Amino acid sequence: AAVAILVGQQTQVLQYTARLLQGPKDTLTEIAGSYLGPIIRLHKGQKVRILLHNGLSETTVTHWHGLHVPAEMDGHPLYAIASGEKLVYEFEVLNRAGLNIYHPHPHETTAKQVYHGLAGALVVNDDEEAALGLPSGDYEIPIVIQDRLFDAQNQLVYVRHQHDRMMGFYGDRILVNGKADFQLDVDSRAYRLRFMNGSTARIYKLGWDDGTPITVLGVDGGLLEQPETKPYMMLAPGERLDVWADFSGRPEGSQLVMRSLAFSGVLPSMGMMMQRGGLAVGSEYPIFTVKVTRKVSDSPKLPHTLAKPHRYAIADTANPNRPVPIAITEAHMAMLLNGRSYAYNDVQDSERIPVNTVQLMEIFHAHGGGMGMSEANPKQAADHQNGGMGMMGHGMGGMRQGGMGGSMGMMMSMAHPIHLHGQAFTIISRTIATGNEEHYATVRDGFIDNGLKDTVLVMPGETVRIIKPFQDFKGVFMYHCHNLEHEDMGMMRDFLVV
Ligand code: C2O
Ligand code: CU
Ligand code: CU
Repeated sequence: AAVAILVGQQTQVLQYTARLLQGPKDTLTEIAGSYLGPIIRLHKGQKVRILLHNGLSETTVTHWHGLHVPAEMDGHPLYAIASGEKLVYEFEVLNRAGLNIYHPHPHETTAKQVYHGLAGALVVNDDEEAALGLPSGDYEIPIVIQDRLFDAQNQLVYVRHQHDRMMGFYGDRILVNGKADFQLDVDSRAYRLRFMNGSTARIYKLGWDDGTPITVLGVDGGLLEQPETKPYMMLAPGERLDVWADFSGRPEGSQLVMRSLAFSGVLPSMGMMMQRGGLAVGSEYPIFTVKVTRKVSDSPKLPHTLAKPHRYAIADTANPNRPVPIAITEAHMAMLLNGRSYAYNDVQDSERIPVNTVQLMEIFHAHGGGMGMSEANPKQAADHQNGGMGMMGHGMGGMRQGGMGGSMGMMMSMAHPIHLHGQAFTIISRTIATGNEEHYATVRDGFIDNGLKDTVLVMPGETVRIIKPFQDFKGVFMYHCHNLEHEDMGMMRDFLVV
């Protein structure tokens, strides 16, 4: 199927919309009355051609977040096109079923373009999922959550003061599918809600206001083996969540509110307080309301088993004792990965990955961090990899931020949603450094590590080990913080698959 998208039409000073030009009807769905791009629906195995027409007055390129496509089709900023130019993407859908994202990826302007509306959902279906008969059509609802700031004329405002660059930009209105005060009218039956955090920086702790637990069917990389029930779920920028929401048995006229619940530690305490309009990060506020408007007698049943996600184990990796490092450094006016800011053609030894291998990787906070407290140490990443660390990371204490040793740095530390392009990864462990437990306790029950992920929220003091395959395609695949303000200030690097 051919899908064509026109990007552009700066209708307002800064309102970018992805508009459908043409395409088979079932492939593209516009979200009525929303600035979000149309939902693109694809099937596993399908060959796709997408025409990107840059109607903006600035450079752009589109990335298929979550899709396993060749490097030249991945929307790397290297392939960004100027105003008025066209770019043709052609790829085969190799992914299993899942909710993915398409969004711009030009270096240093990704956040601004996403903020102004240039993003949408890309849904992949497959036979494994279809066989389950999960709620679909009117009963499968995208929930794209974004925060925005409006001026007196109701136009989007995006300004970046130094503070916004370091902490991320936060709006004071929560939009769902591009609408404020979103209300979902439902029948009294089960629904499939497909969440995506499309905010540039805001992290949510999703919970139903009446305490109903959240039943999770899947995460970034598609369905879990079986549903999992959680009291709440954390959702960081770039992450997705597939939720079973059963409203059967609820009376007509009744309401249920999805809220962001209280949590702490994702921003330095100063940053937490300075957020706009009472919508401080980690404070409680509503996200959307569900209203039961029709009583029905039939509802599908939650399946006991869902799918077979292909999860990797240490034994599959090429480097069981030498994890590829992804070191986070919060430096003086900079956010770095492996001690470096983004630059083209700057691939370091630890970033060179042999094709068709499966790699153990470790994401951790580098020692000596702390915004404005110290300079970055580019040597750390190399030291880390040469350190020959043991399976659980013992003996690395001296090099990482943790304990009381880095107390100043730790106090200034923040959470980062780390995203890797290409195939989804398996999370195998999370370790939290001493001194961070109290904040961590407010979020720790909101992670599901049993599925396949492409973005993982790494809390202050946390070390996350993942296993990631690099199959089929050589070339550059990015890894970066999905706090888009961080990404734009250079918290982004390339892996070169060779
Ligand atoms: Cu969703 Cu490289 O990004
Ligand atoms: Cu991506
Ligand atoms: Cu970050």
